[in-house]
Amino acid sequence: MTDEQEKTPKSEDAETSPKERLSTRAMPGLAARMGSTHLTGLPPDVPPPVQDELGTRLTAEAQKVAHPQPARAEGRLAEGTVLQGRYRILGILGSGGMSVVYKAQDLRFPKVMRICAIKEMVNNAPDPRVRALMVQNFEREASILATLNHPAIPQVYDYFVEGERAYLVTEFVPGKDLEAMLNETEGFFPEAQVIQWAIQICDILTYLHTRRPQPVIFRDMKPSNIMLDDQGRIRLVDFGIAKTFQSGEKGTMIGTEGYSPPEQYRGIAEPRGDIYALGATLHHLLTKQDPRLEAPFSFHKRPIHKYNPTVSVEFQEIINRALEYDIQKRFGSAEEMKRALLSLKAARDIPATVHMPAPEAVQPDALKIIWQFTCEDEVRSSPCIYEGVLYIGAYDHNLYALDAETGKFLWKYATEGGVASSPAAEDGRVFFGSVDGSMYAVNAETGRLLWTCPTKGRIYSSPRVQFGHVFIGSDDHRLYAVNMVSGRVAWSVEAEGAIRSTPATGADAIYFGDEEGILYAVGVNGRLVWRFRARRAITSSPVVSKDLLYVGSQDWFVYALDLRAGWVVWRYRTDGAVVSSPTVGGNTVFIGSTDGYLYALDATNGYLVWRYRTGGQVTSSPAFYQGAVYVGSVDGYVYSLDAQTGQLRWRFQTNGPVVSSPRVVNDIVYVGSLDHNVYALPA
Ligand SMILES: Nc1ncnc2c1ncn2[C@@H]1O[C@H](COP(=O)(O)OP(=O)(O)O)[C@@H](O)[C@H]1O
Ligand SMILES: [Mg+2]
Repeated sequence: MTDEQEKTPKSEDAETSPKERLSTRAMPGLAARMGSTHLTGLPPDVPPPVQDELGTRLTAEAQKVAHPQPARAEGRLAEGTVLQGRYRILGILGSGGMSVVYKAQDLRFPKVMRICAIKEMVNNAPDPRVRALMVQNFEREASILATLNHPAIPQVYDYFVEGERAYLVTEFVPGKDLEAMLNETEGFFPEAQVIQWAIQICDILTYLHTRRPQPVIFRDMKPSNIMLDDQGRIRLVDFGIAKTFQSGEKGTMIGTEGYSPPEQYRGIAEPRGDIYALGATLHHLLTKQDPRLEAPFSFHKRPIHKYNPTVSVEFQEIINRALEYDIQKRFGSAEEMKRALLSLKAARDIPATVHMPAPEAVQPDALKIIWQFTCEDEVRSSPCIYEGVLYIGAYDHNLYALDAETGKFLWKYATEGGVASSPAAEDGRVFFGSVDGSMYAVNAETGRLLWTCPTKGRIYSSPRVQFGHVFIGSDDHRLYAVNMVSGRVAWSVEAEGAIRSTPATGADAIYFGDEEGILYAVGVNGRLVWRFRARRAITSSPVVSKDLLYVGSQDWFVYALDLRAGWVVWRYRTDGAVVSSPTVGGNTVFIGSTDGYLYALDATNGYLVWRYRTGGQVTSSPAFYQGAVYVGSVDGYVYSLDAQTGQLRWRFQTNGPVVSSPRVVNDIVYVGSLDHNVYALPA
């Protein structure tokens, strides 16, 4: 449908309350469009309108009738004002050309301080058609937001009208917009930082531009509409002039002069316009030269290095390509621009920001299973692959040996209890613990028993083989060092609590946690070297990498401890108990939390690189393999994420929670599920 066909708002429309309209029209395709010719439409080739202020603007024509100036002068809501008997105004967060954004408390949640952002538009234009249009605009922002579901885009909670004022209640973003940051920062932002922001913005644009049935065009990319939240993540606010895209449609010039692409002045809104505005925004962020104060489209005459010589040529080239006057010469998509950004050397320097891919960005659910093997009970244990054979324990008391390539059953060994412990193999032997309290060694080829080593508690810990010994913890509070060949206990040490954590070994020590929250470092002779106390159980299994020891705790923290002395080098707090064990890939620590996220933390400083939200607790431990991370979730899925960006590569649905930790060998991912199956999937 073209704008010409669009009808003027009918009077019965005006009688319906905007709220009702919102609920019946909360579809992007139905959202009213700003570019309606009857009010503000311009013929395709009008010159850019004159600049009036440094804000979002309507067309020159619309300004004549719709100038919202009296609205602004009208007075802002005083602190303490309560709207709808529900939202208490706490202060002002910001204001743009047409609106004021307040911070407010939602009183419907009396026990907690639930904060929201409330955008107010005062609508007292004298012309009723303009008033109707402004309501429509506002309603469109609400409608578009209501259909979007992306962690970087504020959620809509409510929408209502009080007299001449319309209100949109959204999620509060704790943080600052980039314009405020530009003004407050001395000197320039580091290039790597800006690249990371740009990558995140590309992800959000990709999400918007791939909406169905129509792409959503943001149309107003600029520093004041981009926020950096308190976790360093980019959020996009202000969907006031966002619109759904109809190809070939011509509408109205709208946007912010200086950032808007040339074609937008001709009423053309299309995805690559957002890329241009992103280019303009990046130019501004790097040079501190406000494009609103410069001749339009003059970026190429004002090369970045002229103002900021530290920016790499490669990054400048990317920005220049985004800023091409000719649409065809720009990046074809935000995804393409992101790939270019990811290839920059500086993109790898400080990934200390979070990246939040949209859960539905890729739809790779249709993964082909290589093979699947069904046990008689839940599979909590993680597979061990050794000389072409997969070993895994099940709650049906058995240890299974399967051909890793075909999934063919080779043999099973029955214990007296469930096998939750994950086997380890070496020198033709497979070692594992059982809930029956014993540790077992069986012949890897035949499954024949070599020896057993009884303990006085159940065994949930998994064996670690090193220095000719098998180290394993028991619920009897002891860590055992057992001779790998004879099965004789060389020594055991007593911990304060049950040991479910699997020991890690370093050059000359063994590290393990207990259910009392203590992490122990003991020498190869069993003597205590140091201990570290967390506030809750350490069920997670520590990992040694370089000079640090990484481990999670049920106190919600991930810790990096100094290997020699046990002091905390850094710690990172998740929003739930950390039972998952870390894995280190490159300079990143990957670990799950019961808050549902898989975290990627900078191994050196613990900064969040990205986190990925699954639909359930992540107690499974991630596996790192060739630039990808694999992890299971209680939501039943096995996830494969891009290790660098956290972008979903694929996910595979099993029929039960996945607490088993994936193993990847020869491009095959092996994992168990509580649905009783062991799966082999293509990596
Ligand atoms: N959800 C939010 N949480 C916190 N601050 C916000 C939120 N939305 C907007 N702001 C702040 O208010 C400013 C103006 O909001 P915006 O939606 O851009 O309105 P306008 O249409 O007036 O530009 C933003 O630049 C930002 O600083
Ligand atoms: Mg704004």
